[in-house]
Amino acid sequence: MPFTIAIDGPAAAGKGTISKAVAAHFGFAHLDTGLLYRAVGRKVLEGAKAVTAAQTLEAEDLQSGDLRTPEVAQAASKVAAIPDVRAALVDFQRAFALRSGGAVLDGRDIGTVICPQADTKLFVTASAEVRARRRYDELAANDLADNYETVLADVKERDARDMGRADAPLKPAADAVLIDTSDLSIESAIAAAIAAIDARRA
Ligand code: DC
Repeated sequence: MPFTIAIDGPAAAGKGTISKAVAAHFGFAHLDTGLLYRAVGRKVLEGAKAVTAAQTLEAEDLQSGDLRTPEVAQAASKVAAIPDVRAALVDFQRAFALRSGGAVLDGRDIGTVICPQADTKLFVTASAEVRARRRYDELAANDLADNYETVLADVKERDARDMGRADAPLKPAADAVLIDTSDLSIESAIAAAIAAIDARRA
């Protein structure tokens, strides 16, 4: 049976870094499902209809252009609240999860909706202030920074929308292992994730 790891959590909690490291450690494929919503969000910013964009999404949409801007992140969070957008993206994610070599998927609803049967579920979180500081530093490094207060407001707005939507809201699965990275180095956070997965593989 393929081994599936579900990693959920809010923006900038460290999910992406942990997911990449975990996938490399176990030799599993990795899907950042946020990219799917970002690609749809970017198409909407370009004038497309959200549901049509989701239904016609292609692999190259995930590579082309800059999907990492704050504008695209907000657009992604908005289209992600539309049930028909989410529905259009389910099959691709589930097929990825069943890859024979093992898979890591990170997002908001992987453990709750996309892969409720995942072998290990992690919920990676951190305080909004810590996450905003990390996102601010990341944006500053790429010359995209606004100011810290704006980034914090942005993080809180996205949290509220992602947690408050009716369809597949962001929340930990009942059987998820919680990893709060507020006071953890990235190395410690990765080690905690690998330990939790090893415990389930044993
Ligand atoms: O993980 P991210 O910041 O790239 O995600 C961007 C937005 O996409 C996020 O604010 C909510 C949405 N999203 C979602 O609703 N479900 C997922 N599995 C992944 C992302």
